[in-house]
Amino acid sequence: MAQHRVVLLPGDGIGPEITTVARRLLEAVSERHGFELVFEEKPIGGSAIDATGEPLPASTLAACKASDSVLLAAIGSPRFDSLPREKRPETGLLGLRAGMDLFANLRPVKIVPALIDASSLKREVIEGVDLMVVRELTGGIYFGQPKGRLEADGDERGFNTMTYSGSEVDRIAKVAFDIARERRGRLCSVDKANVLDVSQLWRDRVDAMAPGYSGVEVSHMYVDNAAMQLVRDPRQFDVLLTGNLFGDILSDEAAMLTGSIGMLPSASLGSDGPGLFEPVHGSAPDIAGQDKANPMAMVLSAAMMLRIGLKQSAAADALEAAVDRVLAAGFRTGDLMAEGCTQLGCQAMGQELLKAL
Ligand code: IPM
Ligand code: MG
Repeated sequence: MAQHRVVLLPGDGIGPEITTVARRLLEAVSERHGFELVFEEKPIGGSAIDATGEPLPASTLAACKASDSVLLAAIGSPRFDSLPREKRPETGLLGLRAGMDLFANLRPVKIVPALIDASSLKREVIEGVDLMVVRELTGGIYFGQPKGRLEADGDERGFNTMTYSGSEVDRIAKVAFDIARERRGRLCSVDKANVLDVSQLWRDRVDAMAPGYSGVEVSHMYVDNAAMQLVRDPRQFDVLLTGNLFGDILSDEAAMLTGSIGMLPSASLGSDGPGLFEPVHGSAPDIAGQDKANPMAMVLSAAMMLRIGLKQSAAADALEAAVDRVLAAGFRTGDLMAEGCTQLGCQAMGQELLKAL
């Protein structure tokens, strides 16, 4: 029987609750599809700071690197906002992405028919939306040097550097071109080339790659316009390729097309080695521990892990179908609640998903 080693990183806030749901479902689906998952849970983020003083303990990174796939729930808590940056939960996540060399972040945004009225946008605008955000994840202004704060001439200054090398752009652009070729063949690269030199380099490298992909139609869009077009006419997009910071912002915006950020999964991949799968949403400290969280982005991230990371696509299909079924039957968590539907807590939603499997 095939065996896969999965590291679970429950993290902070609602992370542990949604991890419990995902783990149960993974156990059930693996049993049904004839493979075994061996789980190991490791601390990251604020819970790791509490336990070890570090947001990314060396043993967590080592276990992740030695695994077949990593499933992360969420990190972050306002409790740590005043700590120095190297001791904050977010630094643990960035360290994990960098330490596993996960430069490609894939965030698929697809409208679930049952949720169409949960979106703050009109049905006519979002019906049929099916796009993929391909976000560069280990470079750009998140990691650029120099950065810091200093005092000079009686004032303070804070600074970061937005920087990409040609090869960093090439490797993420290749991922996006390959995905576009398998989808509807339309790639829109998002930058700020009208102002930023780093964006002009980005645009030039994407253009240079285009002739190698004759079936893919390439366009470029400034990030301010892209933010507007995403809410004006999101159906125009197939694959959106962008850098780390723009991708962070646009993927939250794109998530809301689906009605709730509680629905959006993501995959972070390197050129080889294990991938990291995580919901796009954060740790939602305001509802943590109250059994109110929506576990579906986590379950859909587990499905992405099964399909992309572990090549168990039948099991991935089964998890995704269970989510569709539960939504079609009218079950909702609070974030998605609508008239005539049945509101459930996180664990009860997990039970319904298990029944629907
Ligand atoms: C995301 C998150 C992270 C990011 C934070 C938690 C560091 O917002 O995955 O989009 O900015 O990348
Ligand atoms: Mg984000």
